[in-house]
Amino acid sequence: MFTANDFIPSQYSQTIENGHFQWSVPSNIALVKYWGKKDNQIPANPSVSFTLNNCKTITKLSFDKKQNTGNFSFDLLFEGKPKEDFKPKIQKFFERIEIYLPFLKEYHFTIDTENTFPHSSGIASSASGMAALAMNLMSLEKALNPVMSEDYFYQKASLLARLGSGSACRSVKGQMVVWGNQTNIKGSSDLFGVEFPYAVHENFKNYQDTILLVDKGEKQVSSTVGHDLMHNHPFAERRFAQAHENLDELISIFENGNLEEFIKIVESEALTLHAMMMTSMPYYILMKPNTLEIINTIWKFRNETQIPVCFTLDAGANVHVLYPNKDKEKILQFIKDELVDFCQNGQYLCDEIGNGAIQIK
Ligand code: DP6
Repeated sequence: MFTANDFIPSQYSQTIENGHFQWSVPSNIALVKYWGKKDNQIPANPSVSFTLNNCKTITKLSFDKKQNTGNFSFDLLFEGKPKEDFKPKIQKFFERIEIYLPFLKEYHFTIDTENTFPHSSGIASSASGMAALAMNLMSLEKALNPVMSEDYFYQKASLLARLGSGSACRSVKGQMVVWGNQTNIKGSSDLFGVEFPYAVHENFKNYQDTILLVDKGEKQVSSTVGHDLMHNHPFAERRFAQAHENLDELISIFENGNLEEFIKIVESEALTLHAMMMTSMPYYILMKPNTLEIINTIWKFRNETQIPVCFTLDAGANVHVLYPNKDKEKILQFIKDELVDFCQNGQYLCDEIGNGAIQIK
């Protein structure tokens, strides 16, 4: 079993004056949801996600050794332009991870970042964004300590990403990633995400995720506040236990490819997440009328056609439509015919299961 202390480095063998790295890291969509956490970004329950392929953050990290090592020093560019409002989040991230990367104050950094998905699409970029920054920082640590193993590199990248945003720790790898201790999943950890280590049925190969953009506005309640409301939540303990049960069931579903059972768990998880929001105090609702229209239309279509299409939700109004690759044509037609009207400006994004972070050289 790892402890966080295993990721605190001792001395580095190399010194480096300046340079840059660049990584492209996808977003991910949880099937069993992370909702509720303890101190230090330790999840209240384990989660599992599909890593995506097209919705990505591309981040270039340039670094220059500096004289004054008293403070963190960095510039942040978003799509080539300085972006001051992102800086406090990065500052906080650096503070949280400094103990794991003691060189941070020795460099001035320029973080140059962009997303492949439209700006303010209501798609959270914190998962891909924090993971992309974490990958770059690990590239720098590897340059300072070239003997580092590949396992350590990815585990620590995921650990750092987690400290930026919990769900980010599941974006480093693909295609399915588990985060959080689960007795029946070997290697699983609260500290970082791990690739789902068991057999996965053909049915899940190239699984599709079409993201319907229902509401692109800023959400009224942030995920951070939402997680916090799980403290003293009347149903919290039962919910955390349920996540363990659902994850256990998914182990055999992934192996046997039973899509009917898969759908039951995935849709129940999505609605439970939102039920937790609606039963928090203060209570709130992030779904919009069109979220429900889409859900009902999917259920009707599934009943009529027996095609195993289902939905999941993250902490917002957008709907992720999940379906096997072999049904792609029919589902895309269904989306165009029956769901696009419920999307803001008719917008949706086509994505599919992917492999995680890629270094750009
Ligand atoms: C509903 O990872 O955004 O998407 O750790 O506070 O940054 P922080 O929260 P975040 O929470 C995501 C919650 C979720 C479910 C999930 O991705 O598992």
